Amino acid sequence: MNLKPLWLALAAALVSQATFTLASNSPVILVPGLAGSVLQERLNRTSAPAWYCDKTSDWQTAWLSLSAAARPVCLLDDLAIFYDPEDKRYKNQTGVDVRAYDFGGLEGVQALDPDLKSASGTYDALIKGLDDKGYTAGQDLFGAPYDFRLAADGLTQVGFFEAFKALIQGAVDKNEGKPAVIVGHSMGCLVMLYFLSRQLPAWRAQYVHAFISVSAPYLGSVTALKGSISGDNFDITFIPHDLLRPLQSTLPSGPWLFPAPELWGDKVLVQTQSQKYKAADALQMLQDLNLTQQASVYDIVHRLTVPMPALDIPVHCIHGKGVETEDSYFYDIAAFNGKVPPAPNKVTHSDGDGTVNIASLQSCKQLGKTVEVHTFNNASHLGILRDDRAVPYIVDIIANPTPSWWSRVQGRLRKFSGVL
Ligand SMILES: *[C@@H]1O[C@H](CO)[C@@H](O)[C@H](O)[C@H]1NC(C)=O
Ligand SMILES: *[C@@H]1O[C@H](CO)[C@@H](O)[C@H](O)[C@H]1NC(C)=O
Ligand SMILES: *[C@@H]1O[C@H](CO)[C@@H](O)[C@H](O)[C@H]1NC(C)=O
Ligand SMILES: *[C@@H]1O[C@H](CO)[C@@H](O)[C@H](O)[C@H]1NC(C)=O
Repeated sequence: MNLKPLWLALAAALVSQATFTLASNSPVILVPGLAGSVLQERLNRTSAPAWYCDKTSDWQTAWLSLSAAARPVCLLDDLAIFYDPEDKRYKNQTGVDVRAYDFGGLEGVQALDPDLKSASGTYDALIKGLDDKGYTAGQDLFGAPYDFRLAADGLTQVGFFEAFKALIQGAVDKNEGKPAVIVGHSMGCLVMLYFLSRQLPAWRAQYVHAFISVSAPYLGSVTALKGSISGDNFDITFIPHDLLRPLQSTLPSGPWLFPAPELWGDKVLVQTQSQKYKAADALQMLQDLNLTQQASVYDIVHRLTVPMPALDIPVHCIHGKGVETEDSYFYDIAAFNGKVPPAPNKVTHSDGDGTVNIASLQSCKQLGKTVEVHTFNNASHLGILRDDRAVPYIVDIIANPTPSWWSRVQGRLRKFSGVL
């Protein structure tokens, strides 16, 4: 019997299937970092912190618009979040609703206020790069902004992970079942690690083709300590260092990003004239600073993603290096028991991406056996998403997500056609 026609038909079917598969894209989901989502607020307050603050409003941009930033007293009070240690739940400010803007779309992750774009845009360059490759918002390109005030436990409470799961399943269904590529930046990577590690292996295999982790502080960063102690302006130069401190020193996401004792060990990270704090002393430091809310969530949040779980899906770790990064602070006061200076009096630096220390960035490679690491010299924490080497590199991974099994199948097909 001559089997050749059968083989030919089979090979042809496989090849056409292959062409078909390659023609459609793996959907892409973008997950921003701390302060990288647009947050909207809706007010119905009975009191306000100052006479010029709105008490009622329809949904409006809170984080971050120029008009909101111009009245920081109002903004900080509206965005305050409260933790009830009794029932372990978080609450918005009374009379304030807060939501991440345009969940599923791109407007909540692309840039903050258009007027502030240069200072705060997150994913605009990558979106442009994907747009050039034919990706379309809502079809095969999605954004997952979230309430970055919260750590993963709070995000569970407000239903983010359920919404995210529905988003990714819907995206995969829309694209002929092709599993998605998730791109996380900074804290967004921790949000994703938390989510992915809690799904079943079969779910991950069906829905996630690859996880691209950009600038992730899996084992924390020393700058997060500064955010709680004296505030951090995220290098947005026109924001004073300590302006956001009232918010930063209360948010549950802060201690989630504190340096992990596993990595920093005995190194002294924060000092006053009389005190020395290592990573393992963070809770004591919060108590000394009278930051009661962050102290009460510390035990929960600093263990949400540490020790790091491993993932069984392909992971690409991408980060900058060779940028001076703060690695310890000295506050020239007797002790943390009264007013804190608006910025540390002495700062030491070492390698990193300007925000996250190199050893924490490198911890990404612990995520599993299928990790590919790519570093960009002199690329900063946020700058890497606008870097003219890094952005095409990321677009390339997304546009050609050729898994090794596929190369093997292709190789066999080629051998077949040679035999035939
Ligand atoms: C605003 O809050 C008050 C209670 O403080 C409530 O009676 C009223 O219905 C609320 N208004 C809106 C539009 O939700
Ligand atoms: C804040 O407000 C939004 C909108 O009402 C709500 O969905 C969310 O659960 C609230 N967040 C917290 C932490 O209560
Ligand atoms: C600590 O904070 C609480 C509530 O924020 C305040 O009532 C108390 O006076 C503070 N104590 C010190 C020593 O600053
Ligand atoms: C590193 O980046 C900064 C800011 O983008 C730039 O001014 C500097 O020239 C770069 N240095 C090197 C060695 O490429």
